[in-house]
Amino acid sequence: MSTEEKVIVFDTTLRDGEQAAGTRLGVREKLELAMQLAKLGVDVIEAGFPVSSPQDFEAVQLIAQQVTGPTICGLSRAVDKDIDSAGAALKKAKKARIHTGLGISDIHIASKFKDEKYGKTLKDKKEKALDMGVKAVKRAKQYTDDVEFYCEDSGRADKEYLYRVIEAVINAGATTVNIPDTTGYSIPEQFGQLIADIFRKVPNAKKAVISVHCHDDLGMSVANTLAGVRNGARQVECTINGVGERAGNASLEETVMAMRTRKDFFGIDTKINAKELYKTSRMVSEMLGIFVPPNKAIVGANAFAHSSGIHVDGFLKNPLTYEIIRPEDVGSPKSAVVLTARTGRHGLKHRLSELGYKVSETELEQLYQRFLDVADKKTEVFDEDIAALVGDEIRAVEHIFELQYLHVACGTGTLPTASVKMKVKGKDVPVIAAACGDGPVDAAYEAIRIAAGQSPKLEHYSIKAVTGGKEALGEATVKVIDKNGVRFTGRGVSTDIIEASAKAYVDAINRMMAKE
Ligand code: KIV
Ligand code: ZN
Repeated sequence: MSTEEKVIVFDTTLRDGEQAAGTRLGVREKLELAMQLAKLGVDVIEAGFPVSSPQDFEAVQLIAQQVTGPTICGLSRAVDKDIDSAGAALKKAKKARIHTGLGISDIHIASKFKDEKYGKTLKDKKEKALDMGVKAVKRAKQYTDDVEFYCEDSGRADKEYLYRVIEAVINAGATTVNIPDTTGYSIPEQFGQLIADIFRKVPNAKKAVISVHCHDDLGMSVANTLAGVRNGARQVECTINGVGERAGNASLEETVMAMRTRKDFFGIDTKINAKELYKTSRMVSEMLGIFVPPNKAIVGANAFAHSSGIHVDGFLKNPLTYEIIRPEDVGSPKSAVVLTARTGRHGLKHRLSELGYKVSETELEQLYQRFLDVADKKTEVFDEDIAALVGDEIRAVEHIFELQYLHVACGTGTLPTASVKMKVKGKDVPVIAAACGDGPVDAAYEAIRIAAGQSPKLEHYSIKAVTGGKEALGEATVKVIDKNGVRFTGRGVSTDIIEASAKAYVDAINRMMAKE
């Protein structure tokens, strides 16, 4: 990668990400994820909040000992025992950072520092908080030079006070100052302006790295993070898949790929090895038990899937018509054309040729009509469905009988009955019959025998689901024996298994009659 200026990527999946409701990672799982984050190339791993539990302490300690490459960071409040705990957990790290800080918006100060020991008025409490912040930085400096200070709830803070806090903690030795939009309240223009104002109003702002840490309560965490970068922030705090407290944090994969894909706009990049993004996303999803929505940018199952006719047609001519990132660039499985009712003939033809079927234009048209029938009933048509349709349609003999109508009535305590109508080749009037049977398939077969005036012996019958799901195609196979002992096999495919069975029987009779 070039020597151009880079934005520092601070990953907090193991700390803020793990704060997502209902999730908890074990120490070994955290270590495994930290190793993967190192492979991904993040600059800083926030490994946990050591004072919060013995497990968190152990996880931070283990990661500090075993994960090399990124800086390992531990969170603390601006409280001595937290800072000492973080310092102890990080002792063995090659590069250690303590991330300390406190709430600095009026609402945080007034609510969290209610006790009069912090002062009687809000003004007094704010002075006390500022003093605590400065002391926290100085204490953390005893453990490591690399100290980050978070000004919690900066997005809703009194700006003049925020500037004072930043100036004071930098003077105390903070090397990074984190400006979190803790409640996801900010709008991108506003948040970008806040970062720009910090550089204008805080005299020593350039002596530290200004970091942005945005939450997604209004769905703007990535936009706010990028607005921060546009205005001079040089560290982004993110989580894989955007997991985190409440609606989550800015997603690392989206933030990083936005800067990389739109380098023309941002003029800056990160050191992330994007080919590891997909794998990391899967690991986080599996370990935290948080499902990645299919439409999730960069790592969702549909992020590189094309389905509608216009898109499929354009994509097959040139992937760049509908893709701004190549799936292989983020380690994702290759782009897919998902066959649905909207895919169009071109998409079907392309999939048939990928599957090795050579079909004529007439066959394609026949298959396309059958494909549409199936696609109308199913959300997605799989390769196995296509294979079954090809077998059913292309292998078909000339139809003497064509099943036009089938009605079956069955249920507990009723006698299964079926009625059929079949078109007969060369005749204007269809044949119709009704019959009872031991079950719905038996009744349908009896009705077909009467209507066709043929009674081959049924030797074998089987049905199987071609693909998964409750709307899977059923494929029926029958073997019949004619009066001379010759066997004929018939197949039928439908999302309705009784219809598939009836079609298979009619197919076998057609083959028998064609032979005769
Ligand atoms: O959202 C937030 O403000 C935080 C801080 C602890 C950095 O997670
Ligand atoms: Zn946070």
